[in-house]
Amino acid sequence: MRLLVCGGAGFIGSNFVRGRLRGGEDSIVVLDKLTYAGRRENLQDLEAEPRFSFVHGAIEDPPAVAAAIEGADALVNFAAETHVDRSITEPDAFVRTHALGTFVLLEAARERGVRYLQVSTDEVYGSIEEGSFTESSLLDPSSPYSATKAGADLLVSSYHQTYGLQTLICRGSNNYGPYQYPEKLIPLMVLNALAGDRLPVYGDGMNVRNWLFVEDFVSAIGHVLDHGVPGETYNVGGPDECPNIVVVRRILELCGRDESLISYVTDRPGHDRRYSLGSEKVRALGWSAATRFEQGLERTVDWYRDNAWWWEPIRSGAYRDYYQRQYGLSLDR
Ligand SMILES: NC(=O)c1ccc[n+]([C@@H]2O[C@H](COP(=O)([O-])OP(=O)(O)OC[C@H]3O[C@@H](n4cnc5c(N)ncnc54)[C@H](O)[C@@H]3O)[C@@H](O)[C@H]2O)c1
Repeated sequence: MRLLVCGGAGFIGSNFVRGRLRGGEDSIVVLDKLTYAGRRENLQDLEAEPRFSFVHGAIEDPPAVAAAIEGADALVNFAAETHVDRSITEPDAFVRTHALGTFVLLEAARERGVRYLQVSTDEVYGSIEEGSFTESSLLDPSSPYSATKAGADLLVSSYHQTYGLQTLICRGSNNYGPYQYPEKLIPLMVLNALAGDRLPVYGDGMNVRNWLFVEDFVSAIGHVLDHGVPGETYNVGGPDECPNIVVVRRILELCGRDESLISYVTDRPGHDRRYSLGSEKVRALGWSAATRFEQGLERTVDWYRDNAWWWEPIRSGAYRDYYQRQYGLSLDR
């Protein structure tokens, strides 16, 4: 299959591209704006692969999309602004990329009859105290990030209903694994623990997340792309739930540090308490998660320990100022 992968230089997109190129016959064009979170380094090991090419451009730019989609059989859209904290201080880019960008991609796919898969998130359902969300649960997003992602999902569904475009939506729970930018909980805590810096924990640390190893999410996305029913949405939840503070304590253990490094900081406004997804529908399609949280977390810590070339440039650059503004703490090392 000839795939256009938008946002393929980010965390999940680059893992998807790597998995598809190594496991099959696809040829892949990545279209990516290279925001702070998108990095060519994430695809560095694939640059020599003849079935891979890269286009630097934004999904909200129709000429860039028209050039990149030429000859594609399917489009997978990972391109997004993805950090809830940034959506609270600077929501503009979230509206531009999720609303306008998704619209431009859908129009390009509709004109050419290209199968379209939108990568989305459990956050569109909001928080849930007990039980798990299904695909028919109400959308009740609480941040500018999740609200604009929910809007994009609705637009995608409308292109199936109105124009008959072959659309699919995959809503994943919290991902973790190699190549994740260290503003997100797990890589942030791992890098701080490895360096001996303090670990900033929001509120009481009891926010619960449904952890999904990135290799499992990308295998689910590939499976839905190949076997999903057009017009349908598939939830992809991880096999284990865990409160943030338990995740942080386990990371400290794996890095050989003690709990004196933990600093409790002021909670994020509107911080969702618990996310949980039921994945029965995607399991009925033939997919299942292969990695339990304990094993995936160990692999993730090992990867960050072994790949300082990847994170050192991030941790020594503008990220330090962002970090200080966000947590009121500085990175000492
Ligand atoms: N990280 C998670 O836990 C998680 C869970 C479920 C779903 N998702 C969804 O998966 C997708 C990918 O998330 P991620 O964690 O890999 O994000 P990321 O921030 O690591 O990567 C996003 C990528 O999109 C690119 N991008 C941003 N705006 C763009 C634009 N306007 N045009 C072209 N490229 C643009 C960035 O340069 C970057 O390469 C997102 O849609 C996100 O909502 C993420």
